[in-house]
Amino acid sequence: MSSLLIPKVIGHRGAAAYAPENTLSSIHAAADLGIEWVELDVKLTRDGTAVIFHDESLLRCAGVDALIKDMDWKDVQELDAGSWYGDSFIGEKIPSLEDALNVVIERGLGLNLELKPCAGREKETAEIALDIASRIWSEDGPQPLISSFQHVSLETTMDMIPEWPRALLLDEHHENWREIAEYLDIATLNINGNTATREEVEDYIELQKPLLAYTINDTELARELMRWGVDGVFADNPDVIREAIETQH
Ligand code: G3P
Ligand code: MG
Repeated sequence: MSSLLIPKVIGHRGAAAYAPENTLSSIHAAADLGIEWVELDVKLTRDGTAVIFHDESLLRCAGVDALIKDMDWKDVQELDAGSWYGDSFIGEKIPSLEDALNVVIERGLGLNLELKPCAGREKETAEIALDIASRIWSEDGPQPLISSFQHVSLETTMDMIPEWPRALLLDEHHENWREIAEYLDIATLNINGNTATREEVEDYIELQKPLLAYTINDTELARELMRWGVDGVFADNPDVIREAIETQH
């Protein structure tokens, strides 16, 4: 496992407070702010193209009442994933993983790629996404951190590219979280920082792996989590959160 140098703030879905989430503009927005790493969600279209998208439904971010797993890439490509956010983003596309990775690399960003499979496609999503990422990602830069809520996706990652660091996403405290984390040999633990208690955070810290918290857009909460011992946070407004953390006394 590589040694990880993760910044204190990672841009969430690019920098989702400044551009439509998970688009090329959102990645550029994070880079323009001087943010070092971005988190992006990847899932599959019906015909198995890896795309950067968060929701199962296309309604919120692309205005179509359909599921992304039921649409082919050629149709997904036609959708407008920007106008919901603002007129200046009309025509923004749902990016393929490949296009997004190329922008991440071109802008010199670090990457946390979250494998976000539709139900039943946990293994396939990891296989397709990692096949693309391993072909595109340069061997020189820091390795991407591969995260998922889905244990099967992380297991597949461990089989395919064991040297890439893995992160277990925990939305809530599980009794057996430590066993899962140890079995998956994770590099970081990524928790929901909006619901975690101080006691839970203290428990997680005992694992002695970097502890990251999502999605923290509130400056006071970011400061509190850092005081509790969290190592880094995901934020839609990473510049604001970084400033708050850096100026904490
Ligand atoms: O990876 C951190 C965070 O993105 C996990 O939750 O739903 O925003 O993908 P979600
Ligand atoms: Mg995510």
